[in-house]
Amino acid sequence: IHTEVFEGSDEASLVIAQEIADLIRSREAKNEKCILGLATGSSPIRVYAELVRMHKKEGLSFQNVVSFNLDEYYGLDKTDNQSYIHFMHYHLFDHVDILPENINVPSGKIAFEHIAEYCTQYEEKIESYGGLDFQLLGIGRTGHIGFNEPGSKISSTTRMITLDYLTRQDNAFAFNSKADVPRKAVTMGVGTILKAKRIVIMAYGMKKAEIVKKTVEGEMSTDVPATFLQTHGDVTFVMDENAAKDLT
Ligand code: F6R
Repeated sequence: IHTEVFEGSDEASLVIAQEIADLIRSREAKNEKCILGLATGSSPIRVYAELVRMHKKEGLSFQNVVSFNLDEYYGLDKTDNQSYIHFMHYHLFDHVDILPENINVPSGKIAFEHIAEYCTQYEEKIESYGGLDFQLLGIGRTGHIGFNEPGSKISSTTRMITLDYLTRQDNAFAFNSKADVPRKAVTMGVGTILKAKRIVIMAYGMKKAEIVKKTVEGEMSTDVPATFLQTHGDVTFVMDENAAKDLT
């Protein structure tokens, strides 16, 4: 895993946004679609803000973009402020010219008995576009990418998972209380993510230092699903100095 350490998350976010913008434009020049895998959470917020700025000030168009989000809380939908579909509209989609029909976020409202079929269709839809050109990732302190918590296999695909205690605790700030954080989520699998042609993963702050070290320098294991990124040929781990502090 190639690492890039920036002084702070602002500098890092500008570089990531520039890479995404360059990719969108290079595809547009060839009259091709650009297939983006997108993340939510605190880490990508400034990337999206910069992409919105580029759309407004520099004419960056998202008309050729097809997006697939990593995950969604089970039980929430777009009318819930804590849902990831709401997050994506709030931070990105409502401020750029992406076509509504090109936005894909896993639904958190599929009946339990139809989940498996729904997840297979999500995978097939990604494949139908020739796969993800670029996948943006954050990392949880459990070592999750997407919501692939410890125990997730390298070949896992889109499915329903149970969130770890620590993940629910870390995400409780957005809810009234930890009890309100959903217990389950729908997430792309580790295998889905690894099929992306290019991956950029972000981590900022001291609280991420331990998991950054395990991911980059640790032994590959289902205990830390992010370590499976070590098998991918084109991953850059972007971080700030605090998150990088334990790297050798
Ligand atoms: C979000 C996602 C998660 C987050 C991770 C880090 O779509 O898939 O893996 O990226 O929990 O979250 P933040 O950035 O809030 O620390």
